[in-house]
Amino acid sequence: MTTQEIVPKILSVGVKDWDRRLFDELIPLPDGTTYNSYLILGSEKTALIDTVDPAKSHELISNLEKAGAPAAPIDYVIANHAEQDHSGSIPAILDLFPNALVVTNEKCKGFLEDLLHIAKEKFLTVKDGESLSLGDKTLQFHFTPWVHWPETMVTYLKEDKILFSCDFFGSHLADSRLFVQDEHKVLTDAKRYYAEIMMPFRVAIKKNIEKIETLDVRFIAPSHGPVYNNPRLIIDAYKDWISHRLENTVVVAYVSMHGSTRHMVDYLVEKLIAKGITVKPFNLTRTDLGDLAMALVDAATVVIGAPTVLAGPHPAAVYAASLVNALKPKTKYAAIIGSYGWGGKTVETIVNNLNNLKLELLEPVLCKGHPREKDFQALDRLADEIAAGHKTISV
Ligand code: FEO
Repeated sequence: MTTQEIVPKILSVGVKDWDRRLFDELIPLPDGTTYNSYLILGSEKTALIDTVDPAKSHELISNLEKAGAPAAPIDYVIANHAEQDHSGSIPAILDLFPNALVVTNEKCKGFLEDLLHIAKEKFLTVKDGESLSLGDKTLQFHFTPWVHWPETMVTYLKEDKILFSCDFFGSHLADSRLFVQDEHKVLTDAKRYYAEIMMPFRVAIKKNIEKIETLDVRFIAPSHGPVYNNPRLIIDAYKDWISHRLENTVVVAYVSMHGSTRHMVDYLVEKLIAKGITVKPFNLTRTDLGDLAMALVDAATVVIGAPTVLAGPHPAAVYAASLVNALKPKTKYAAIIGSYGWGGKTVETIVNNLNNLKLELLEPVLCKGHPREKDFQALDRLADEIAAGHKTISV
């Protein structure tokens, strides 16, 4: 690795994790990720904005050495967020620069004390809107709670108009290029990131975008993925994703043991396509959950297809329902379809797993054994109901 320059005296010194394929032991990372860290060389003081995952501390330190440290010591480590992929190397930096102070808000300080056991005297706490001078550079701290933890904040470098947004606006994308070059690729990965990390916090995102839009921003430098040299690209994308706009799309998340539920899914998918609806089927035994999450960002309807096993829904379907419930998409309609052998609580269990969502539950279609004519007729009615519902959505 090496360092890259956003503008003179502002260096990207973070790490690209090309090989990482899972985050939080939950989220697939098809394109790896980066832990961005930025060095600001002020005329009087030097600040490091966020650090990197602790597994990569040595690479951060190597990059800092290439940038001139420890001859030019770090005075401040700005902690925008306490999650360990950004804070985990703070102890290593404090070992290297014992006089450095960790600059953060009171809430983040509490998390860092609990997560990393950083001593109280190592902190300089700031209030919302407060500034810190580095000589010819001024850092301003703006609290942006719940994007995506309660303590999250962003740092604005006034003179160079750079917003260091940490997770906010980020993307899990390892790319050798510092700035966004392939807008389509970056937006796709940023949407996936939004779906997996930010989607449950749409109200907080709206408020925080309003706050950020009061600043004159030339670059957005997140802590994952490339730097935006056109901030509108990602701000406008976020505005769309959090808006009430829904697409004429049905996400079908299903699992089938012996083919009966699969037969129902295939039939419904065909009927929906014939009605001009976009359908995104996900076989839960082999799907990338990030793709499923991304499809939920705009879809008006989600259908869960689950066979009954051991008196309840197949566990893969319960897992998918729990994920949808946690991600809180703006989806308006939901339906449950599937086959059973002798009964059980499939519908009840899945519905209980969707209890966070304000959606309209359409009539479920459960069939005994392999679907018969009456079951296909019930699926016809479900397709009609979905199509009618989609006529009412704002697009
Ligand atoms: Fe990239 Fe919330 O950590």
